[in-house]
Amino acid sequence: MTAPIIRRKDDLQALTRAWRRAGDVIGVVPTMGALHQGHLSLVRAAKAGADRVIVTIFVNPKQFNDPKDLENYPRTEEDDARKLAPFAVDAIYVPDPDQIYPDGFVTTVSLGGVASVLEGAARPGHFDGVATVVTKLFTQTMADRAWFGEKDYQQLQVVTRLSADLDLGTEVVGCPTIREEDGLALSSRNLLLSDRARIKAPALNAAMERARGRIEAGEEVAQVLDEASLEVERAGFNAVEYLVLRAAGTLAPMDRLTGPARLLAAAQLAGVRLIDTIAVTPPD
Ligand code: PAJ
Repeated sequence: MTAPIIRRKDDLQALTRAWRRAGDVIGVVPTMGALHQGHLSLVRAAKAGADRVIVTIFVNPKQFNDPKDLENYPRTEEDDARKLAPFAVDAIYVPDPDQIYPDGFVTTVSLGGVASVLEGAARPGHFDGVATVVTKLFTQTMADRAWFGEKDYQQLQVVTRLSADLDLGTEVVGCPTIREEDGLALSSRNLLLSDRARIKAPALNAAMERARGRIEAGEEVAQVLDEASLEVERAGFNAVEYLVLRAAGTLAPMDRLTGPARLLAAAQLAGVRLIDTIAVTPPD
């Protein structure tokens, strides 16, 4: 059974108010569509962790710092609804743009700290756009819980912070990254890779996995990271924007593995920007 597609916030809230009155726990999975198994893993987790599940699909213009990226972003609503059918979610919210950004909209939710580094530095305004739309999606859906992927690890931290700081009342739950067999993290942007670029793409995760092993074995972090970047570029990537080790959660810089950490990377491959992240665990 396909879930109803809802485009107006009043229609959505007619449902969510009734669910609230009935005492149901409301879960939301925010997405920008072009759904793949990564998104669907969040939907599966949400079905297990909430009484009512809303999947939102909105390609949010405010979080794209590159107009070309926004224009090229895949839009596949019918396919998305078909992919969601087996999950029997309670609603698919595909807001008309004016439901998120009405005429005269001037408010921006902006975070410092964890939002100001890495993706925040590389993509000015990106996390303001994410924080603004996520605030609206949390309040419009009245969600008790929301599921986000570790694939966008920094986003997960930003949204966790946002919900706590603004008392949004939505508990943020993180889920593991789903990958292709060759290690490439699933991403809607993978659809934009040419066949040749697709063959090169797993080199990013492979280099990160090797770096993780070496760092966990006690090798010098700076040198391992330099070599990993070189390896990615030699595999045919045009540029590595960053490939760094950061403290888990806060993303504070880390030059030695002194606690739970993450490797995070962003790299350009044939005009497509790929990001990836993996956990790095110090030996006991
Ligand atoms: P989008 O890129 O569509 O991703 C929606 C959710 O799916 C995010 O929480 C993301 O981390 C998760 N996801 C993507 N690829 C994944 C993978 N391979 N494994 C597990 N989870 C994965 O992220 C956004 O949209 C937007 O910024 C949004 C939060 C919807 C705000 O506009």
